[in-house]
Amino acid sequence: MTLKITTLSENTVDALGLLAEWGLSILIETETANVLLDAGQSISVVHNADVMGVDLRKVDKVVLSHGHLDHTGGLQDVLKHIGKKVEVISHPDVWDAKYAGQREDKRKNISIPFHLQDLESLGAVFKLSKESVKITESIITTGEVPMVTDFEQITPNRFYVKEDSGWHSDEIKDDLALIVNTKPGLIVILGCGHRGVINTLYHAQKLTGRKEIRMVIGGCHLIDASTERVYKTIEAMKELDVQKVGVSHCTGLEASGIMAQELGERFFYNNACTQIDVTDTEIKVD
Ligand SMILES: [Fe+2]
Ligand SMILES: [Fe+2]
Repeated sequence: MTLKITTLSENTVDALGLLAEWGLSILIETETANVLLDAGQSISVVHNADVMGVDLRKVDKVVLSHGHLDHTGGLQDVLKHIGKKVEVISHPDVWDAKYAGQREDKRKNISIPFHLQDLESLGAVFKLSKESVKITESIITTGEVPMVTDFEQITPNRFYVKEDSGWHSDEIKDDLALIVNTKPGLIVILGCGHRGVINTLYHAQKLTGRKEIRMVIGGCHLIDASTERVYKTIEAMKELDVQKVGVSHCTGLEASGIMAQELGERFFYNNACTQIDVTDTEIKVD
């Protein structure tokens, strides 16, 4: 099996002419389907795809890792460029009224900034599921990630859902990842990893019945984590013997630095323009 993973949008860029934008978007190309995980915050995906020579018309499925604006704000433009009917796979809570900020009077709306009907009129066919969804023979979503480790938690006092009954803290149950099952092991691609990277990896193992994790890339949401949690995450990654760790986005610079130091050769920074070619025998990061 060959697999090409291209990061179209991330907080940082690694090439001339590309736009950096807080958020994430990763394209996964396989022999059978091309899957786009997230759509970035606004204009960066379409701009960067154009500069990188990536034709968005080849996208067969879109997956939203969760409802946050920095992963969904580019969706309208992306759909226009996909230019056909396309399934958008996500969790039902993706449509919650999501807000960020501890102080009620300063909370920012970070929900999907579009109406469902407008996205549907551009070709989006939403498939919302709490369970894992099979996308191809080798690609599935995690569905809702159970929180089982004792050191991972949703960032306290930061994420809220506005309901008729008032404010509730957001458990971000919509937070999901993609799992690619390759012969030598799993590749896990995270959006924000709000429910914990290690929780997500354990869940990926459980869903697939596989132990080997070849690579994990994407947002590890350690940006506001304690140093203790960062080290516990690294320890668990070593225990799981994850071969490659390509962090992005909300992993945060401080945690990324510690991970780079602790994981050595296994670590890389996955930013806009990073291209990863995967075969059954090697993983090449450019
Ligand atoms: Fe994010
Ligand atoms: Fe997020």
